[in-house]
Amino acid sequence: MTGKEKEKPLISLKGLDYVYGQNGGTQRKALQGVSANISPGDFIAVIGANGSGKSTLARHLNALLIPTGGEVRVAGMDTAQPDHVWDIRRLVGMVFQNPDNQVAAAIVEEDVAFGPENLGITPEEVRKRVADALDWVGLEELAYRPPHTLSGGQKQLLAFAGILAMQPKCIVLDEPTSMLDPRNRRLIMDLLVRVNHEQQTAIVLVTHFMEEAIMAHRVWVMDNGHLSLDDTVPKVFSRREYLEGLGLELPAARQLTLLLEKNGLCLPQSEHILSAENLVEKLSYVL
Ligand SMILES: Nc1ncnc2c1ncn2[C@@H]1O[C@H](COP(=O)(O)OP(=O)(O)OP(=O)(O)O)[C@@H](O)[C@H]1O
Ligand SMILES: [Mg+2]
Repeated sequence: MTGKEKEKPLISLKGLDYVYGQNGGTQRKALQGVSANISPGDFIAVIGANGSGKSTLARHLNALLIPTGGEVRVAGMDTAQPDHVWDIRRLVGMVFQNPDNQVAAAIVEEDVAFGPENLGITPEEVRKRVADALDWVGLEELAYRPPHTLSGGQKQLLAFAGILAMQPKCIVLDEPTSMLDPRNRRLIMDLLVRVNHEQQTAIVLVTHFMEEAIMAHRVWVMDNGHLSLDDTVPKVFSRREYLEGLGLELPAARQLTLLLEKNGLCLPQSEHILSAENLVEKLSYVL
């Protein structure tokens, strides 16, 4: 990838507004004046209180929702143009919170193959991608099971495998780990870090877990339909009062660091202590 390509945003949001109920019923402003860019290789966590607009924003990134004001462009294509929708969805894959809405085929293996088969790649390549994706998410032994017989968490892993097999330029995940046990949550996060790092796949992760948010490069904070903060992880989590006012909390290691400071144990560059590993490392210098 050339330096120039890297600079060009993959997705740009300009003055994005979204009002639900345009076709009748009560109108509700869900997004107001959201402007931001997503570039190849970005890893963005989106946090915010319930109802702040995170899912509505995520659904604009692959043309599932069309702005009622402003614009969203994916690789330069305006999402409001219906003839771009197919190309946009090849570039931007989406994993939802509720996996029941995203299962398409009679058996697990076919379900993962469904997306790549429509990309015009060879059957061998499809088979390889499907096998790799099932292996990555640990579902290879369930390859011939009907998807509806899987557990909620297994369905979520299946949906994620289907998106991985598409090899999109950007993966948008709306609370993808909400049904997963800690080990599978960790597995998904490790896979996201890996595809982001190895393939420069941009990741947009909507999450209520601050331990997941700190794995991103940048954090977007949604506040009542506005994108109120778009900054690095340490900078966003230095805004304790603001975040707590929104009903959010700091990562556990940051909370513990602040408590230690309050009790007289000051650690160097403590604003960068966000994970348990960071905290243990800094403690090892002073204890
Ligand atoms: N289909 C809909 N029709 C009308 N209003 C909606 C619809 N979906 C969401 N809203 C409203 O839009 C606003 C933003 O909702 P959204 O689902 O984007 O929030 P969120 O940040 O994803 O919340 P959560 O953390 O609970 O998932 C809320 O006020 C919500 O009530
Ligand atoms: Mg949501």
